[in-house]
Amino acid sequence: GTPDLGGGPGDPHMGHSMPGMTRSVDELRDTSTAPAAVAVTLVARKQVFRLPTGEQVDGFTLNGESPGPELRVVQGQTVQVRLVNESVPDGVTLHWHGMDVPNADDGVAGVTQDAVRPGGEFTYRFVAKDAGTYWYHSHQVANPQVQGGLFGGLVVAPRGAPAEPETTALVHHYGSNRTVDGRTGDTAVAAAPGSRMRVRVVNTDNGPMSTWVTGAAFRLVAIDGTDVHGPATVSGQAVTVTAGGRADLDVDVPADGSGARVEMGGDAALIVGATGAPPPHSAKPAVTLDPLSYGTPSPLGFDPARATRNFDYTVGRWPGFVDGQPGVWWTVNGKMWPDVPMFVVSEGDVVRVRIANTSGEVHPMHLHGHHAVVLARDGVAATGSPWWVDTLDVADGATYDVAFVADNPGIWMDHCHNLKHAAEGLVAHLMYT
Ligand code: C2O
Ligand code: CU
Repeated sequence: GTPDLGGGPGDPHMGHSMPGMTRSVDELRDTSTAPAAVAVTLVARKQVFRLPTGEQVDGFTLNGESPGPELRVVQGQTVQVRLVNESVPDGVTLHWHGMDVPNADDGVAGVTQDAVRPGGEFTYRFVAKDAGTYWYHSHQVANPQVQGGLFGGLVVAPRGAPAEPETTALVHHYGSNRTVDGRTGDTAVAAAPGSRMRVRVVNTDNGPMSTWVTGAAFRLVAIDGTDVHGPATVSGQAVTVTAGGRADLDVDVPADGSGARVEMGGDAALIVGATGAPPPHSAKPAVTLDPLSYGTPSPLGFDPARATRNFDYTVGRWPGFVDGQPGVWWTVNGKMWPDVPMFVVSEGDVVRVRIANTSGEVHPMHLHGHHAVVLARDGVAATGSPWWVDTLDVADGATYDVAFVADNPGIWMDHCHNLKHAAEGLVAHLMYT
């Protein structure tokens, strides 16, 4: 069958000790028993719940709500999450999207753990080493489970920095309703006139979303949890938030009390700081900010010219039969999961990947456990701030050159974060030997 992001409990294709790996997944686990700074229990349930609009969702909750509780951590803290599956029939896991956690805590059913069956539990433990905006979600039959509500926000505040006014904006479609933090329409966020508000936009849906700000200027201060170096002030441009990706906007709250409207795709918004009537909706700007040339360069911390591994990775479309069923499937180098060969690295490798997309649709490609820097798009070299991504929108016909350092041993999924496409075969793995 197809992967649907998790082979299911007891998937025979993969186990916890991968032959050929120098260390098994379980040996990569944090076995310390010291108390964690942040310790929470999340109880997963299949349940019918109501959106604030009154609409019923037949989905899933964590501690009775969807989105699940936002986890807030200070950089350097140890996080321990006990996941209890009360009633999710297919089993459940939690993946810490964008956080480069130890492999054993990555939450990928069938790869780093078995799915937690109803009545079971699993405890994750990791150090939040990088500040930034992340999210968590189930990684077992992920397309229906994430769409149905098994996700939440995860924010790591920088250590030693003064707290800044900020808000998370977790954007999600429950059915046809676009919501921000579970609410449809406009959501008010109090902010002092003339202040700055960091809006952490998280796209939990399957397609790219545009965000833009009406009535105020802003800076795009982080992408996928990594700060942009030298972010310039932007007005009249939209920012694309990749499916699974994050964009942090530092919004200049108007001094006159009029508020800023942070548009999420055009049909939901955060109204930041308005004390009177909120500014009217505005259409999406014609110009979209290009991270390839935004901000100013700064050192990468490694030299991509000294690559010790080079991979070519072409995403294609394959009409054919799977398990006797005709369909259109997605491939990596002509193969679909589980027949895509492992991309094999060793710890310390500098890895370059050329990702090309000839498939006819956009694919938000997501690599677990690592952040990659974009070197070039369609042969045009990046000129702005280092553009670090964990989830990169690769448009049809586009080619990206990216690079990363292999510094997190294990077996890591690399897949399309249009989770429907992942279920349709667009899944590969990176494996350390
Ligand atoms: Cu956010 Cu493999 O996923
Ligand atoms: Cu895709």
